[in-house]
Amino acid sequence: EPHRPVLIEEKLDGEEFSLQSFADGENVKHMPTVQDHKRVGIGDTGPNTGGMGSYSCNDGSLPFLTQEDVKNAQAINADVIKALHDETGEAYKGILYGGFIATRDGIRLIEYNVRFGDPEALNVLSLLQTDFVDVCEAIIHQKLADLKIGFSKQSTVCKYIVPDGYPDSPAKNAEVDLSRLPKTSDSLRIFEAAIEDRGGKKFLTGSRAIAIVGVAAQLDSAEKIAEEAARSIGGRVYHRPDIGSRELIQSKIDHMDRLRKGKVQSSALIQ
Ligand code: GLY
Repeated sequence: EPHRPVLIEEKLDGEEFSLQSFADGENVKHMPTVQDHKRVGIGDTGPNTGGMGSYSCNDGSLPFLTQEDVKNAQAINADVIKALHDETGEAYKGILYGGFIATRDGIRLIEYNVRFGDPEALNVLSLLQTDFVDVCEAIIHQKLADLKIGFSKQSTVCKYIVPDGYPDSPAKNAEVDLSRLPKTSDSLRIFEAAIEDRGGKKFLTGSRAIAIVGVAAQLDSAEKIAEEAARSIGGRVYHRPDIGSRELIQSKIDHMDRLRKGKVQSSALIQ
């Protein structure tokens, strides 16, 4: 007698990271890797969100990745662009955003998006030294191979300011006080998102409200810049103070060390 369908899933234990690449249909140029934090709470706890913040490091990699991990992720993005072209005859021109996970057995692809990541875009575009219009034109005219795309060798930390209660029952229509927010500069970028301006006053509309990006030579300094700015914002809002902190990043390094030493076993899950 036929049995009901059986789904076999592989449980992937590891650390997620994002690799975004510019693609012109034939060639790809990679951006620095970024780690987003999807969970709402300190220590990556609580429900998933659109992304509470993210960081990137001055060497383009992340502290828990090996050089091989980054090279493999780049090769997968490049292979996918080539395969799309070969198999469909269509050239995909735009941003390829790969969501990967580093596991004890190497990296695995989780998903693709054909757009920038949010907040990952804020990290990498804060470092982009090449004129973005030149990048777009190179994509359109399939000239990416000829364009040298530069990213400043600095670290970035992005923290999202979100309404109290986000993501399940976010405060709406509450005023946000930005009067103590430092001015934007090369080391501090501020992006208003789910905010409504009413006669010069700013109000929450219910989703991620303001992204604060600190940029500095070292990750610690970038985190401090972002954290100080995030703390200065008043109103019914909160953010994750741990994103980009030494403690949280060390916990990710330790997690990968444990997995790579084989102390924690991946297991198959049968449903
Ligand atoms: N960083 C998650 C997303 O953009 O989908």
